[in-house]
Amino acid sequence: MTRRAPDAPLFEDLLAQRLTRRQVLQAGAAIAPMALAGCAPFATSDANASKTASLGFKAIQGSKADAIVLPPGYSYDVVIRWGESLFSSVPDLDATKLDAGTLFEPTAALHQRSQFGQNCDAIHFFPLNGRSDHGVLCVNNEYTDDALMFPGHPGFRGLRGAVSRAFVEQYSQVVAVSKAAQGVSIVEVKRERGRWRFVKDSRYNRRITADTPIDIGGPARGAALMQTKDDPAGERAFGTFANCAGGETPWGTYLTAEENIQDYFANLDQLKARNDVDPFIVESHRRFRMWKAQSLYNWDMADSRFNLAVAPTEPFRFGWIVEIDPLDPTGTPVKRTALGRFAHEGASPVIARNGRVAVYMGDDDKFEYVYKFISNGRFDPKNRAANRNLLDQGTLHVARFDASGKGQWLPLVFDPKGPLNAAAGFRDQADVLIKARMAAYLLGATPMDRPEDVEANPTSGRIYIACTRNENRTVEPGTVTYGGREVDTRPNAANPRGANNFGHIIEIAEAGDDHTSLEFSWEVFLLAGDPSGDRLITDLGRIKPDSVYYAGYANAEDLSPIGSPDNIGFDRAGNLWMVTDGTQPGVSNNGCWAMPTTGPNRGRLQQFMSGPVGCEVCGCQFSPDDETLFISIQHPGEGGTTAEPRSHWPDGGTSQPRASVIAIRKDGGGVVGS
Ligand code: FEO
Ligand code: CA
Ligand code: CA
Ligand code: CA
Repeated sequence: MTRRAPDAPLFEDLLAQRLTRRQVLQAGAAIAPMALAGCAPFATSDANASKTASLGFKAIQGSKADAIVLPPGYSYDVVIRWGESLFSSVPDLDATKLDAGTLFEPTAALHQRSQFGQNCDAIHFFPLNGRSDHGVLCVNNEYTDDALMFPGHPGFRGLRGAVSRAFVEQYSQVVAVSKAAQGVSIVEVKRERGRWRFVKDSRYNRRITADTPIDIGGPARGAALMQTKDDPAGERAFGTFANCAGGETPWGTYLTAEENIQDYFANLDQLKARNDVDPFIVESHRRFRMWKAQSLYNWDMADSRFNLAVAPTEPFRFGWIVEIDPLDPTGTPVKRTALGRFAHEGASPVIARNGRVAVYMGDDDKFEYVYKFISNGRFDPKNRAANRNLLDQGTLHVARFDASGKGQWLPLVFDPKGPLNAAAGFRDQADVLIKARMAAYLLGATPMDRPEDVEANPTSGRIYIACTRNENRTVEPGTVTYGGREVDTRPNAANPRGANNFGHIIEIAEAGDDHTSLEFSWEVFLLAGDPSGDRLITDLGRIKPDSVYYAGYANAEDLSPIGSPDNIGFDRAGNLWMVTDGTQPGVSNNGCWAMPTTGPNRGRLQQFMSGPVGCEVCGCQFSPDDETLFISIQHPGEGGTTAEPRSHWPDGGTSQPRASVIAIRKDGGGVVGS
């Protein structure tokens, strides 16, 4: 690819543009559908402000404790741990035997296929009979932390990659266990006598793993790039893995997002050396950063599907949104290729006024993009089955954020006249969707600072984009070759800080409050970090690299520091909740925070929860009555080993750490956070 994205402005220019833009907004000339107020154009003015419930909990301080820390008056239950069996016919994992090598046993993978997976991430709650105390949880199991599973495994990071390869060479049976511990766990849950528990042997209980057959739906079904030796028709993939966040459709199905698939495929060098392979295949894998000779997880050593030199098109069957019906435990999940292929963080469907379905999605990598799919068909609230394939036909768009404060959703549509045509490596619409990142780049999409969850506020309809951070964003002019193309590393209007060490949140208002609109206005909502000292700004015209901004909220003493926002969620009052994955100011543990999005306390962010040592906090899903908050505690004890655990959560004492789902409630009941 030779085309460059539009030149990013210099940092000083950004400030000048910002000031000009404020004048435009204050003159009422912007397309923002709501009235504008002062320097925070989205502040306090919408009709829903009165609906915002006050957040009444007492904020906690950041913590380094190996514990779940909650405000006074709150408690939690561990709903399910990694390794607990969903069926009484299969034993639970005996975690006391991990360091003795229990997962090397020949039955380990078989058992794991019926046990709750490791490293839980997204959680969605599907009520049974409309209840808030009884439902089906769909939970992603994103990846495995093999050093916490197998004695002697050196872990994956840094120089240990080559060592872990030697380990997998010696103990290749660990690959089957790891594949069985990833994917999705579906489990019935109930609250009885005040405590949440999972229901063993429920008819809804199910594991979907990296080997489960999954149909391919949408325009890429059957496409040449989707065909493999094991599936010559290109219509059925084997498994799902790297499942990060997700979403739920208005017709009650679960969407699971395949994210960091590049970490599983090895040997691009050998593929490149072959002269019988379409160069666009190699280029596409480079664009997905599968450039390493070896993979992070070394699955290729036990399954040739993950060896690019043997199975060049296998990666094209991953990196999709997968739809699962939690109420149909024998149904075949479907990869919805119309929603594009990239490192999907999650997928948030919203019904537009005209009945079409808009699905908002982030591509979580440095300098990647934000997407919106709009269905051709309309949602039928009276006929669940009629909605089953709504996500197979429609148009995928990618966001361009202009410095003016407006933005465009640009359609990713094959066109013989270009730019998405054969000369650019696209033979048809299937190619455009399979190589969505390359297509988005050619359209001039705005490269973002790792877009994670993108979700609509249920009270205002505004869209919030969590950009987790980007250490490669630099104030100094520069370029970096990242993801197979050269990118300008300078800040742009929607990613205004460099380096962006703590992340930020963007707020979008679709033109006319219409989710099918192709125009929007946007605003920086949060610049995360430490609000103490003189770092807190209330005027976005004065951004410095260490500035923090909380939607214009001015009282620094009221605010909690935060870094690396990842999953976001909303309560019914429209308060924004978020959980974090990464560095915190003050080096405390990851946790959960909440803030109003409207009213006088818009931007008043308070820490609600802190997780145990080494964990990432994921999920952030409320029960329908807002009285339970489900959270995933992912990779507690990260950086430790079975011999030297860094965390003993959740079971305490000298126990091994285990990723688990928790349910947080107010003692005596009531809306969480009130
Ligand atoms: Fe798997 Fe983007 O976090
Ligand atoms: Ca994660
Ligand atoms: Ca995530
Ligand atoms: Ca993350």
